[in-house]
Formats: sequence, structure tokens, C-alpha cells
Amino acid sequence: MNRGAPYTRLIADLPATVPFLAPEAIERRDGRPLVLRLGANESAFGPSPRACEAMGVAAARAAYYGDPESYELRAALASHHGVRMEQLVVGSGIDDLLGLIVRTFLDRGEVAVTSLGAYPTFNYHVAGYGGTLERVPYHENANDLEALAAAARRTHARLVYLANPDNPTGAWHTTEDLGAFIERLPEHCLLVLDEAYSDFAPPEALPPMVGEDDPRVIRLRTFSKAHGLAGARIGYAVATAETIATFEKIRLHFGVNLLAQAGALASLADTDYLRGVVVAVAEGRRAYEALARDLGLTPLPSATNFVAIDVGGSAQARALMEALAARAVFIRMPGVPPLDRCIRVTVGTPAERALFATILREVWPR
Ligand SMILES: Cc1ncc(COP(=O)(O)O)c(C=O)c1O
Repeated sequence: MNRGAPYTRLIADLPATVPFLAPEAIERRDGRPLVLRLGANESAFGPSPRACEAMGVAAARAAYYGDPESYELRAALASHHGVRMEQLVVGSGIDDLLGLIVRTFLDRGEVAVTSLGAYPTFNYHVAGYGGTLERVPYHENANDLEALAAAARRTHARLVYLANPDNPTGAWHTTEDLGAFIERLPEHCLLVLDEAYSDFAPPEALPPMVGEDDPRVIRLRTFSKAHGLAGARIGYAVATAETIATFEKIRLHFGVNLLAQAGALASLADTDYLRGVVVAVAEGRRAYEALARDLGLTPLPSATNFVAIDVGGSAQARALMEALAARAVFIRMPGVPPLDRCIRVTVGTPAERALFATILREVWPR
């Protein structure tokens, strides 16, 4: 009897795990709604009203496929960053683009380097395409650029992943540090620079893009964080025109939806709104920092929309996360040392932060 096709060896051997347990899955598991959703670094402040309006208008056109070239959005982004349109590709979020990059650059068995405990979707794609991961421990609550470059040289890596600003620490490196890091990478190695949190970062953490055509770097940006469009699934990569043209061979041309394209375009133009979100998030970070210190805990400096708080040990962090979960508060914590002494809390609205502070004070053992 024909039992259907076997899975490829690569797929059959993959662990049956997903990178994240979604808050919706937690609600289904626990049979109740979350009281606070502060674990996925979404924007508490929502999308720009202009983006909502544009998506509303686009909804009426949802019978049509979106523009596979995301032409208008790419034109706007090119002018925004001072690069050529040919250097931009739009995808359904950085997560999608990470897969495209891994598939394009990593042959089976080749090595990709990342920090141990860094954003896991990159690792997920490396495993899914049969690559080998080399993980470098964090050093003093930040990516260890020296050790990452050394690992890349030692393993003849094709890809090095770095989030700047970083998730889960919130730490950031300066333009000078990044420049020196790129110089230390080996021949035939590409830096995948994930700038998901760039809108919150100080200028010195963001190398200028104008005219950028460096074959050693791909930069990734998203509308999921400061723009508040995580559910719309839209982000983009900036690379050399040659790389972008190569992506055309394999990318999912109709993968970006029409509503997201319209929302992102309107959001990009609404600079006042974005500025307001960035200010509100900075205020929220300061509130978390003050709360942590008041409880005798140590907040890590953050240039993102979340704060990692060092609670003194892995067991304490896990116990605290579980105590918060028991109160239907969704946060996350890094899974591996040395960062697993921390919990990670997304900046909420002032009302959400006040409620979080109340619950945290109730569950944190003095
Ligand atoms: C470092 C980093 N990269 C990428 C993403 C996901 O981006 P997107 O929503 O564009 O797929 C996140 C989301 O938490 C992130 O923290």
C-alpha cells in the first residue's frame, strides 16, 4: 500500500519544536485570558491612526493580490534611507527575511554564528535549511563581538547574526564597534544585522545607510516594533543590489499582503506618531528601571521597547516568571546562562505598567 511520501531526511531529523509559545497558546492552555501581555515586545501604543485608516481603505481592495514588488513602499523606503530601490526587498517581517537569507547563503553543513540565547528565529531557519550553528556566550550582558568574530574565523562561517539593539538584553553597540567587528569577519562571511529595534536606538548605534552598498552586511528592519504593525507582518532588508536581485529567484513574491503594504507606507510617513511612540517607550523604560531598583533588582540598560531585569539568579527568575504567569501576566525570560538571571518585560501603556508594578510587588519575595 502507498503510505504517501516520506519526509526528507533533513525534516524528519528536526526536533518538533517551535521557537515561541505564543500568548494565544498560553491563554488556550490556561483556559483564561491574559491580564497583561508584556512578553512579545509588541507595541503597547498600537499603529498610527493614519496606518489604520490606510489599511481600512486597503481592506476593501483585498480581493486583489498585493504588488509583488512592493514598489511604492520600496520607493518610500529608498528615499527615507538614501539607498537605491534595487537595494531593498520587502518581506513578511524579519522572520521571513531571515529564512530567505539563510536559504540563499548557507549550504547544508555550513556554519552560521550567533550568540547563545540570542533571538531564536535565526537558529530555527539555520536548522531548517541544514546549516550548523555555532553559539558564542554573551559577555557582561551584551553580544561578545570579539568572540563572535573569532568563532566566525575559526569555523569559516558564512553568516554571523547580530541584533543591534539586542533582544533579549536590550544592549547596543556603537557604529565604531560594528565597523571594527565587520573588519574582523573572515572572507566570504556575511553579517546579518537585525535592527528590529532601530527606532528606539540612539543615533550612535545606527551606522548611516546612505549609499550603503557593502557586500559584507545585510540590514533588517521591521514595522513590528515602534510602528506597531506586528500583526500585519511586514519588514525589509537592505543589501547590495546584486543580493536583492538574487533573492528574486526564491522569495515568495506574493507573500506580503496588501493591507500591510498600505499600513507600512502610511506609517512611514507619520513621523510625528513614531516620534511620540519612541518618547512614550523611553518613559516606560525609565518607569521599569525605577520599579526594578525600588525592589532591589538590576535593570539592564536598554535601547529597545523592553527591559531585561536581573533578579539575581536563574531559579529566582524562573520562579518570578511562574508567579507572574499564575497571575495571568505574560512576560518572558532568556533560557540560557548567563542571561537566565533576568526576566524580560515589554514596555506597556502607563495603565499596564501600573498594574504590572502592583502585581510584581505582590509576587516578588522581599
Ligand atoms: C531581534 C528581533 N528580530 C526580529 C523580530 C521579529 O520581527 P518581525 O516581526 O519583523 O518578523 C523580533 C521580534 O521580537 C526581534 O526581537
